[in-house]
Amino acid sequence: MRTTTTRSRTRLRLAGALATVLVAAGIATGPAAAHAEGKPQTLADLAQRHGRYFGSATDNPELVDEPYKAILGSEFDQITPGNGMKWYATEPQQGVFDWSQGDEIVNLARANHQKVRGHTLVWHSQLPGWLTSREWTAPELRAVLKKHIQAEVRHYRGKVFAWDVVNEAFNEDGTYRETVFYKTLGPGYIADALRWAHQADPKVKLYLNDYNIESVGAKSDAYYELAKELRAQGVPLHGIGLQAHLALQYGYPTTLEDNLRRFSRLGLDTALTEVDIRMYVPADEAKLATQAEWYRDLTEACLAVRRCVGITLWDYTDKYSWIPAFFDGEGAALPWDEQLARKPAYFAIREALR
Ligand code: XIL
Repeated sequence: MRTTTTRSRTRLRLAGALATVLVAAGIATGPAAAHAEGKPQTLADLAQRHGRYFGSATDNPELVDEPYKAILGSEFDQITPGNGMKWYATEPQQGVFDWSQGDEIVNLARANHQKVRGHTLVWHSQLPGWLTSREWTAPELRAVLKKHIQAEVRHYRGKVFAWDVVNEAFNEDGTYRETVFYKTLGPGYIADALRWAHQADPKVKLYLNDYNIESVGAKSDAYYELAKELRAQGVPLHGIGLQAHLALQYGYPTTLEDNLRRFSRLGLDTALTEVDIRMYVPADEAKLATQAEWYRDLTEACLAVRRCVGITLWDYTDKYSWIPAFFDGEGAALPWDEQLARKPAYFAIREALR
């Protein structure tokens, strides 16, 4: 790992030195000149040249960490609240809304000229206790769902450019996940959720979002068929979010680019919304090199498909990754390590964007 990092750093230094000479000679202008003046281009700068964004999730408790915030604010042009806009956070008591955490993220984004992805309106996980601790009739739950969606979308109207309207609606085999919403309201809850969100903000892009749908397979096929159906019915669906929580032990999703392309052909945007690439720890040079290759490959896959609009890391540093707490023995999933130092993956992403 040390050799790769050192080599990449040397390469960057050489590029910087060359640019300095060119500027001095009056040859270089524009981005190269900016680089020479000591303002290396960020991932966001590089992505923007392809008409894409490059983002990171972040979470409210982390925002007291100034060195962390500095990189978050400079390297990325998009952020997603890791938890602050989820149902348990935004409607802790029925009909009582709390926007404080989401607002903090939106305000930070505004200060840094970043776009925000809203995450997430309808999900079986991280629901408030008042919702999960009792039974609901279909008309009751319908009203609760509509009110939650519309209050939140209205509150963030003009402040988020996209919403993960429904998160993780399918099982691995492509059947509907038996959530409280599915069991009480039937599969139509998805179309209803999209319509209600669209009423509350006709301009915001509406997504369905899930994990393990990077490859062509039963689960992504379910999204493909549902998306086709919803589009045919005129339901306001604009994009599919592929979370892309990858793991070295499961292999790279080699059909990712084809998969992105088939959704594009339905007239939908796609995005890699929660990217991380975990491994069994401790990390070693070989694992970090493979991880770097995967980051490069998924970045190239998104760039290769016109309607893949951007990439979001599920936080950018191992310091704040959700992986160690959720996957026993795994970690080291992000392009910055726990000390906020750049890993081979970071340089691989840059190469893909260059
Ligand atoms: C995770 C957060 O990062 C954690 O802080 C939280 O404890 C659990 O949820 N898929 C999603 C995200 O859509 O909302 C999840 O975020 C990660 C998996």
